[in-house]
Amino acid sequence: MANTFFTLFLSSIVLSLIYWLWTKVLIWSARSKAGCSSPVKYKHLDPIFGFDLLTKKIKYTKAGKLLALDEELFAEYGKTLHTLFFGRNHWMTMDPLMIQTVAATHADKFGSAPSNRKPAGPLLGDGAFTTDGHIWKRSRELLQPVFSWSQVSQLSGLETHLKRFLERIPRDGSTIDIQPLTQGLFLDSSMEFIFGKSSGSLSPSEQTIEAKQFSEDFDEGLRGMRKNYMTDKISWLVGPDKKWLAQCAKIHATLEGYIDEEIELQKRSKMLGQSIDTIEEPSAYKHILLRELVKKYPDNKTLIRNELMNVFFAARDSVGTVTSSMLFLLARSPESWEKVRKEVAAIAPEQELTFEFLKTLKYVQAVIDETLRLIHPVDRAWRTCLSTCILPRGGGNSGNDPILLQPGDQIELLYGCMHKDKDIWGDDASEFNPDRMVRFKHSWKFIPFSGGRRTCPAQQNAYTDMAYFLVRMAQEFKTIQNRDDCLEYVEEYVMTKSSRNGVKVALSVE
Ligand code: HEM
Repeated sequence: MANTFFTLFLSSIVLSLIYWLWTKVLIWSARSKAGCSSPVKYKHLDPIFGFDLLTKKIKYTKAGKLLALDEELFAEYGKTLHTLFFGRNHWMTMDPLMIQTVAATHADKFGSAPSNRKPAGPLLGDGAFTTDGHIWKRSRELLQPVFSWSQVSQLSGLETHLKRFLERIPRDGSTIDIQPLTQGLFLDSSMEFIFGKSSGSLSPSEQTIEAKQFSEDFDEGLRGMRKNYMTDKISWLVGPDKKWLAQCAKIHATLEGYIDEEIELQKRSKMLGQSIDTIEEPSAYKHILLRELVKKYPDNKTLIRNELMNVFFAARDSVGTVTSSMLFLLARSPESWEKVRKEVAAIAPEQELTFEFLKTLKYVQAVIDETLRLIHPVDRAWRTCLSTCILPRGGGNSGNDPILLQPGDQIELLYGCMHKDKDIWGDDASEFNPDRMVRFKHSWKFIPFSGGRRTCPAQQNAYTDMAYFLVRMAQEFKTIQNRDDCLEYVEEYVMTKSSRNGVKVALSVE
């Protein structure tokens, strides 16, 4: 008996070894057939799981300097390098050609679902972020028209929230941390656009307990989701987070309550022979995502909930943190603020701030782009290779030979580092200089909303909101001054990046 067991044990080891060798030979032969070289490799102290680099990343994240670590790695190894992440091949690249190849040329060979579905699925469900293939396609087809209608017609909705935001800012030059306020402004407006209900964070007297609770629960949900991303393959060691799963169920239940209300409303208006769009609503938003989705799928509550969760996740902090970063940078650059004021002062009083008009404000647009270049709220995207693929660079001694990726390999596209690359932007790459963006012709070297088919569907909406915000700020305030002793930007990551020290400024009307 013991003998049989030993023979079985030995055979399984030998078979595994043969399998391992055979896959190595296959990879080697595919690589040499395609003229690929060995990748430029990070020198791991732990060559099996790569925990040494993970530990370093956690240390730098805690210090608010993760992007600085990425920059150090690229400075040492070149613009594409191979690392290990939980034992998996994990490539990092800041090369525009590599990013373009993954996001556009060979987009069908890369997916988001393998890296997002497991950590984010229990909270977000199947939607634009967490799926690939036909479910992702359906999701984009559902969302695109709503985003397109909204670009041109939603500014009156934003203005309502902006008025409340402006009321909260002292006008006498006293110090204020404006970051929580801009985040509150865009939390309120995005909740209203997505669910038809504002969180009311800027107007506590109108805030419903339910909406406040929903946004707090969602924040808690995001913290649990981030933990899942960090523990990745060893999440089984930590075990399923029952508390977090209960939190997800609570968030879903609240959202389903919103969906039920809308389904009821649409049913009633149908019975009365009334179009739902003619019903008077307290919201200034003409197109509410929840309403549009219920019109299309009145019987599929789970689908609607998942789509809404995915969009809310994307909208939750993005515009709020970019607008506060904009003020962070402008408060440290009085001459740029003056240029914004000059452009805004030239707007005729009768001119309506429409989507089309805001696009013509060259300096305002350049300030937005320069902010996104320097302080991006996400600054990277992860893709997983779905079928064997050759990428044009990253191999050989020079890093200029093609490399071969296998299904399961991950690649991290670091827009944040590409956007600060001195070879692209010059020696002053890390300085805030919006003039450079006035002259810049858009290309794969600058993709704050990603590129290819997974480009952010809300790109134009976000530009419009940010331009509107900046114009209104410049109309309202004469000066903006930095009131933080720390001049540099210290990162704080939850799922998006914000300023750890807040954005302490003084605004004045005199
Ligand atoms: C300044 C603000 C924003 C920036 C910089 C931004 C940037 C991005 C980027 C870089 C991606 C690609 C992520 C990836 O490849 O994994 C993305 C995807 C996405 N964004 Fe945005 N975004 C912003 C605002 C918004 C807003 C306000 C919404 C919704 C109202 C939104 C909805 C989405 C969705 C649904 C996706 C997933 C697209 C897909 O995978 O097909 N974004 N965004």
